[in-house]
Amino acid sequence: MLQDKDRIFQNLYGFHDWTLKGAVSRGAWDHTKTIIEKGRDWIIDEVKASGLRGRGGAGFPTGLKWSFMPKEVGERPHYLVVNADESEPGTCKDREIMRHDPHLFIEGCLYASFAMQAHTCYIYIRGEYIRERERMQHAVDECYAAGLIGRDNVHGWDFDVVIHHGAGAYICGEETALLESLEGKKGQPRLKPPFPANCGLYGAPTTVNNVESIAVVPDILRRGADWFAGFGRPNNTGTKLFCISGHVERPCNVEEEMSIPFRELIDRHCGGVRGGWDNLLAVIPGGSSVPCLPAEVCHDMAMDFDTLRDLKSGLGTAAVIVMDKSTDIIRAIARLSYFYKHESCGQCTPCREGTGWMWRVLERMAKGQAEKREIDMLLDVTKQVEGHTICALGDAAAWPVQGLIRHFRHVIEERIDQYSYRADSDGAIREPVLEAAE
Ligand SMILES: Cc1cc2nc3c(=O)[nH]c(=O)nc-3n(C[C@H](O)[C@H](O)[C@H](O)COP(=O)(O)O)c2cc1C
Ligand code: SF4
Repeated sequence: MLQDKDRIFQNLYGFHDWTLKGAVSRGAWDHTKTIIEKGRDWIIDEVKASGLRGRGGAGFPTGLKWSFMPKEVGERPHYLVVNADESEPGTCKDREIMRHDPHLFIEGCLYASFAMQAHTCYIYIRGEYIRERERMQHAVDECYAAGLIGRDNVHGWDFDVVIHHGAGAYICGEETALLESLEGKKGQPRLKPPFPANCGLYGAPTTVNNVESIAVVPDILRRGADWFAGFGRPNNTGTKLFCISGHVERPCNVEEEMSIPFRELIDRHCGGVRGGWDNLLAVIPGGSSVPCLPAEVCHDMAMDFDTLRDLKSGLGTAAVIVMDKSTDIIRAIARLSYFYKHESCGQCTPCREGTGWMWRVLERMAKGQAEKREIDMLLDVTKQVEGHTICALGDAAAWPVQGLIRHFRHVIEERIDQYSYRADSDGAIREPVLEAAE
């Protein structure tokens, strides 16, 4: 079990003072100037050596991403944009960082911005996060007042932090849609290339990172890359915030070692699966976008990027959704499909049409009102959406359906079998006698 001394987010549950005074007492803003003086190459090398992979979902190596920014600042300024849109269903970790450890996060913004020669950092906060925005603004104001950021600050790197409040659209979490939204336009993803490191916010070199990716950086730089890399396993290092919801005894957010076995995670921190381990049906291990996994493969799986990818799922945002045998798995995935249909920005045909199509078919399948041949037809449609769209929302809509068919095809078939028809006296009207889903 991760020891308390190794926890980065010492105030995850908000038991302590979140203001500057409290954060400083827990070690935030300690030796910041010394770290800055080591130079930007040292910072990028340390972050690379730590093995940190982006915590926003895709798991892209953070240090490598930072090194894509131009080495010299040309006519265009450089920007850091932090993605605090956190709208992936099941995910609620960045929220706790902003509520309870905002200073660690702002300090991380300073290091990342300095390393990429950005004098301005924008933090794009999800529209529904009103209290979080207020708290972040309060913490930023405290930093300005204390001379930790701003012009001529004590660290010697002029640095502004701008808090921007989104309007509550899932698609604005996609990094280029986020940039469009920041620029005051409709939040629709951009075609890539060009990538943000070349042409991002206002056409200038920009790096977009998740809140957690940035907030762990101060500890990596203070305690050393080796310390961080000592947790987990190669290519899957560090500590990680897991958001565990669903049918466990005590749903919670917890910081644990990367690669912790699933069963250990749930037993230790959530009091086990509701009704016992035999009652487990399936798990969505990384937020609603990743395919679900059936109980039999879950028990011993290591909760990390590579293990879950090999199981044809993903760590995603590490939002672990546990479903026991009371779950109607078809209806659950149909509900997710509705979410993606609702959130599609409508730019690309496969996503705009495909998300609605998948949802409608799943709604029928949840009632058994479908033909078995439609299961393969549905799978085929997911393949036509996956990889054929401007952004990954199309993939995110296709994967849960693929997971359902891969592991629970028999449940769909049984549901179709259970649904039978009864003709009335003239045989014209056909009504269901059994709707298993209801
Ligand atoms: C539809 C969609 C929604 C996304 N939502 C978020 C989000 O809410 N927060 C986030 O950090 N990343 C989100 N991402 C991923 C971002 O595009 C981007 O990869 C991430 O912010 C990069 O940060 P990282 O490298 O630190 O992980 C989303 C991606 C897609 C396709
Ligand atoms: S995949 Fe969907 S959300 Fe993404 S750009 Fe295309 S239509 Fe918009």
